[in-house]
Amino acid sequence: MISSYIYSSQTNNEIEVESLRDIQTIAKRENLAHGITGYLTYKKETFIQYIEGPEEDIKQLITNLHNDKRHNIIKSIHFPPKKERVFKDWSMRYIEYDELIEIGFHELLETVFFTVGNKIFDEEQVIQKLNNMLEKIAVTQKNMK
Ligand SMILES: Cc1cc2nc3c(=O)[nH]c(=O)nc-3n(C[C@H](O)[C@H](O)[C@H](O)COP(=O)(O)O)c2cc1C
Repeated sequence: MISSYIYSSQTNNEIEVESLRDIQTIAKRENLAHGITGYLTYKKETFIQYIEGPEEDIKQLITNLHNDKRHNIIKSIHFPPKKERVFKDWSMRYIEYDELIEIGFHELLETVFFTVGNKIFDEEQVIQKLNNMLEKIAVTQKNMK
């Protein structure tokens, strides 16, 4: 089974292009070694990242991400185990925020993400909505290649 996790995090300062590249380089290399796939997006001091892979590797990466001083994780959701990956081909796809806005789903993703705490949707519905949107992002990105 595949373990998966999505979070949003805040940086203290605007991240420089160079630092963003460093994160992407390390993420791609390490994720490839650990069988982790997913996507990352960044805009205006906010990251949103989705990761999926073997349970132990995901657990370790979550710990690393929580300890990483470059950002603070604000909100996160651990999905119930999945039979298949959503992002099969990407060890860590960096998606430009504007691209996601064009796709139109990310705004929705944020809306869902930030209303988890109040009871508009129950957790099962939120997870269902998130999974639907992740599938759509994955499909749209595939078509763009
Ligand atoms: C926004 C963000 C996303 C990251 N994504 C990944 C990732 O997908 N995979 C990864 O191995 N490290 C990623 N990192 C780096 C980890 O936080 C951490 O530095 C790395 O796993 C090495 O940890 P270690 O130095 O404790 O071994 C990311 C860091 C940030 C700030």
